[in-house]
Amino acid sequence: MKLPFSFPGARRAAPPSAGPADELPASPPFECTEREIERWNAEWIEYLKREWELQLTPHTDYPDKPPLPDSPLGLLQLRLGHGWPIALYADRDALEGRRVMEMGCGCGNLGKLLGRYVESYLGTDYSTLALKIARLVSPPNCAYVHVADRAGLAPFFHTIDTVVGRYFWIHQNFQLAGWNLDFLALFLKPGGRLYADFYWPNPAMEQAVVFTPDHALSRAYPSATFRYTAEDVRRLIAGRPFRVLREEISPEMQRRYTVLERLTDR
Ligand SMILES: C[S@@+](CC[C@H](N)C(=O)[O-])C[C@H]1O[C@@H](n2cnc3c(N)ncnc32)[C@H](O)[C@@H]1O
Repeated sequence: MKLPFSFPGARRAAPPSAGPADELPASPPFECTEREIERWNAEWIEYLKREWELQLTPHTDYPDKPPLPDSPLGLLQLRLGHGWPIALYADRDALEGRRVMEMGCGCGNLGKLLGRYVESYLGTDYSTLALKIARLVSPPNCAYVHVADRAGLAPFFHTIDTVVGRYFWIHQNFQLAGWNLDFLALFLKPGGRLYADFYWPNPAMEQAVVFTPDHALSRAYPSATFRYTAEDVRRLIAGRPFRVLREEISPEMQRRYTVLERLTDR
């Protein structure tokens, strides 16, 4: 399947140069700094040069509400009216009428479409620029709050049924992914589900810059992807209040879709 838009990893690049000078420091979501904000605002300015029409189209320009497919792999192909497939892996019953959150929501491209199916939608992101656009293009049941805005996010703690991510976990190394899980555990109700789109390369497809999860973030390759084995995922959730409900590999999407359940705190 052709990817709907040309997000990270899809860009061609020479193999990365190793070395500590390339290491980009990272911080947990609530401690997000100007460095992360500026880095992702700059990425969004680049994306918008190519995708401004898609990203700036308001939810009202998508008139359809087709039934959600029963299969999560079927959902990947769903189209609303015009435009590209929704490219989201999630179960129908985890979306319809649910309180849904998206980590790394960007310009609200998913929230503005899913808003018509869900009870409420909370999007959070590093990029202040993307969040401003998300608020303009989404229906009123969608809220967008910056990832470091603890006071703005606190009312949503323990209220979320389902966390989704699209083009998100593919860019998270082990350190960031762990911080993200700790952050998201604050929002999910016990029994709530988290859908993660880890990168899993298809050897038949040309690869851009792909690291193992223990690799640091790269200055030179901000859009690099991190490949997660099933064992990497198990290592990631060890000691955290999650269990793996299931995983599904999509060679076409080059993903290890993993469904986690939020456990009760011990
Ligand atoms: C490739 S974009 C995907 C946007 C959106 N999910 C979509 O499908 O349209 C990745 C987004 O994740 C955000 N992001 C990356 N790492 C993040 C983190 N640790 N916390 C919050 N946002 C993050 C970036 O700012 C960017 O907007």
